[in-house]
Amino acid sequence: MDNKYTSEYFQNLPDSLVWFEDGSLNMAYNVLDHNIEKGNGNKTALIYEAEDGTTTEITFFSLVRKSNRIANYLHQIGIKKGDRVSIFLPRIPELFYIFLGIMKTGAIASVYFSAFESEALKDRLSNSGSKIVFTNKNLLPRVEKIKNDLSELSSILVVDNEEFIAEYESQSDSFETAHTQAEDYAFMLYTSGTTGKPKGIVHAHYAIIQQIASAKLCLDLQPNDVYWCTADPGWITGIVYSILSNWALGITTVVYGGKFEAEKWYEIIAKHKVTVWYTAPTAIRMLMAKGEELVQKHDLSSLRFLASVGEPLNPEAILWGNKVFGKFFHDTWWQTETGSIMIANTPSLGIHPGSMGKPLPWVEAKIMDDNMEEVVVNEEGNLCLKPYWPSIMRTIWQDEEKYKSYFKDEWYISGDKAKKDEKGYFWFIGRADDLIKTSGERIGPFEVESVLIEHPDVVEAGVIGKPDVVRGEIIKAFVVLKDESLASEKLKSELADFVKTHLAGHAYPREIEFIDRLPKTRSGKIMRRILRAKELGQPIGDISTLEDY
Ligand code: WTA
Repeated sequence: MDNKYTSEYFQNLPDSLVWFEDGSLNMAYNVLDHNIEKGNGNKTALIYEAEDGTTTEITFFSLVRKSNRIANYLHQIGIKKGDRVSIFLPRIPELFYIFLGIMKTGAIASVYFSAFESEALKDRLSNSGSKIVFTNKNLLPRVEKIKNDLSELSSILVVDNEEFIAEYESQSDSFETAHTQAEDYAFMLYTSGTTGKPKGIVHAHYAIIQQIASAKLCLDLQPNDVYWCTADPGWITGIVYSILSNWALGITTVVYGGKFEAEKWYEIIAKHKVTVWYTAPTAIRMLMAKGEELVQKHDLSSLRFLASVGEPLNPEAILWGNKVFGKFFHDTWWQTETGSIMIANTPSLGIHPGSMGKPLPWVEAKIMDDNMEEVVVNEEGNLCLKPYWPSIMRTIWQDEEKYKSYFKDEWYISGDKAKKDEKGYFWFIGRADDLIKTSGERIGPFEVESVLIEHPDVVEAGVIGKPDVVRGEIIKAFVVLKDESLASEKLKSELADFVKTHLAGHAYPREIEFIDRLPKTRSGKIMRRILRAKELGQPIGDISTLEDY
């Protein structure tokens, strides 16, 4: 292949993928069907444990057939290459093979986190122009509520509805996978930025080459591993490292359908003899809070390799991991936009507690100032990456301007502040913008503010991430009320609930403070930076653009 997304490293690796004879490439074929050719057909692909402890095992053969049925069904109802097909489901096995089935048809798959309420869902379904959404009976009311506002939506498929099941079962279990081009769009995932509504980050089929290489290198996956990535596929980690790269490598993968619970998590590791575990700092800190004794009650000796992603991994958590599991958590850094891990403490590199590690062999990273000049060693700057790598986003759905804004002087600007030390290790410092990371989940302040101001008692709101020892950050809202006398603790909890029911269960402000007015620029933009500085008792910095305050 000859185009700008083929960096030199990957040009020498084409054999790691299955290309169709006409030079086309489909990610889903590489993830599933290729396993049959490799002799993995009867191997367990998915060990699924539901919240109530029921366990289901699904082989690669079975996943291929299930995804083929979905693909045939979509084909039958007129889905064509390039159409958007969405999934709004909790972590159940259907989500996994539906995602791959969609891509087999050449359509673009999208997944929305099941905590989203109707309005958040509407933004995403309408922006993507989805024709179909897969959901279940439980979540259906949230889709029903908004379906009349979605002109492009033609069907809602309810996976636990008898009608759907009958249709699905009547489909053939073989399917001729669409001969997509390597650069065709495969899936997209909505993610928050600092301003505006969530953006649809679009990835191409060719991304799989780098996703496989990074999983091999950073997660040390071996054929006999039992691998558990705790991320939900509503987020990029749950797609790339719990569906795509792991199965493309033929790895038996554990998925737990329930919520976080320390004891339950240890039971899962012990019961399924998990060897490789990829999780997030907040979860590790929550396990830490439950203490060492709880760890000792379980036989976790199967664990061989531990890794972490999504937010800064503090050295205490790494050291605790080593004390209780006898293994270090390896920190990895990447973003929805980068499509795969870019910087990591790889097994061969060893652990540098507190550092994100080093750029992977195929990544060129630099710390630059705002004028795109490289800064000196140990100095803080913008973490930038040299494009184009195979798994980088190809566009932002219907927002080419936003997409272009990530690039300057032939570099990709991550939006993170970091520094590089004399040995070449990268250290995370913080975001350059107002993006919030709470429990590893990415929340845009604008989305939360927009919901708060819909409440009848609220005039305006400014939302920030406030540092928190367990969750990394919590969402804090500064709220200006219509009438100061309305301020009460009761109204605070009412506002928190209002966000839960209008946006999402995971995106509500855990702290609310009523204030008289918000700091704004003369052009009326909320200066969240000032709210944050005040909250932390830090110097406020340059306020030359601030309106009289
Ligand atoms: C943050 C998650 C510190 C960072 C895969 C980035 C991290 C954003 C780390 C992307 C890490 C991710 N250390 N911060 N190891 N990994 N981040 O798109 O701010 O949900 O820009 O992708 O998470 O979040 P996203």
